[in-house]
Amino acid sequence: MNQANLKIVIVGRNGQLAWEAAQRFQRLGEVISIGRPELDLTNIEGLWEDIRRISPSVLVNAAAYTAVDQAEADREAAMKINSEAPAAMAEEMKRLRGLFITYSTDYVFDGKKTAPYNENDATGPLNVYGASKLSGEKAVEAVGGSYLIFRTSWVYCARGKNFLRTILKLAAERPELRIVDDQVGAPTWSRDLADATRKIIEQLATQSSSAGISMGEALGDRRGIYHMTAAGSVSWCGFATAILDEMKKRGLSKGNLASIVPIPTSEYPTPAARPQNSRLCNDKLKNTFGVTLPEWRTSLTAVMNELG
Ligand SMILES: NC(=O)c1ccc[n+]([C@@H]2O[C@H](COP(=O)([O-])OP(=O)(O)OC[C@H]3O[C@@H](n4cnc5c(N)ncnc54)[C@H](OP(=O)(O)O)[C@@H]3O)[C@@H](O)[C@H]2O)c1
Repeated sequence: MNQANLKIVIVGRNGQLAWEAAQRFQRLGEVISIGRPELDLTNIEGLWEDIRRISPSVLVNAAAYTAVDQAEADREAAMKINSEAPAAMAEEMKRLRGLFITYSTDYVFDGKKTAPYNENDATGPLNVYGASKLSGEKAVEAVGGSYLIFRTSWVYCARGKNFLRTILKLAAERPELRIVDDQVGAPTWSRDLADATRKIIEQLATQSSSAGISMGEALGDRRGIYHMTAAGSVSWCGFATAILDEMKKRGLSKGNLASIVPIPTSEYPTPAARPQNSRLCNDKLKNTFGVTLPEWRTSLTAVMNELG
């Protein structure tokens, strides 16, 4: 198979990752996004028809139930979208002998470890969202086939609903922003995630084409879970401070910018508990595929350049 006839289906359309992936995968072959309104993952019947008709060599699941606090009261929908749907996609791609890629989260961990988490560290989600994503990981593993599960963290980009966009807005509106300073992780630009995924698909496509084997066969025993986040780490408060620094550099503040006040998690109660340590070690990804993501700070500047 050569790259020109690689057929890639992206599940999800307007999400942070789904949208970037649709842009960044274009030169890999034919890219087809399927998502709402025609696809509702709480009712996946329609998905079968689409996957069978298109018969992709790669299916990238960029859709998920990502409303972490809302999930606490909406377990059923979270489980359907984050566990049953990816398992069903994995099943269909196994039948097609294709490659299935899906994403998971740092929230599968309880955050008590003091060092960055490895792929084989014990999981222990603190909230329903994390539990639904972990259930999805296990369901995809149980299907088998040729799958890659990329665990990432703190995803943001120039569009959509995310921490960066919230801070950009609130910093110009409020005198003071009180931001949690005892949760640490790696803010990850969805474009970096899309690019890292594209590089891996590209590698596998080259191997599949030169050996005359399917994408699934090209992956071989490298299937499994990989951590995929930006390099480096910071607290939410540190991330907000960096965003404000970027705003100041660009003269984006017509009036005064908010001052940032670091607070402990205990002063910002939310329906869903979050891990204090969200740091993921990316060595397995680097050692297996030679792929690394840029430092979170470098990507923040790139996103801000895009916003102008
Ligand atoms: N956001 C984070 O901070 C974060 C952190 C760790 C891991 N992750 C993981 O990274 C991946 C990408 O996340 P993201 O930030 O790009 O998510 P996002 O921006 O919230 O987008 C979610 C996507 O899922 C789709 N979706 C949700 N419910 C659906 C339903 N019932 N039927 C069909 N589609 C549905 C949305 O569809 P529409 O396009 O129609 O809205 C959207 O494309 C996910 O697996 C997520 O769990 C995210």
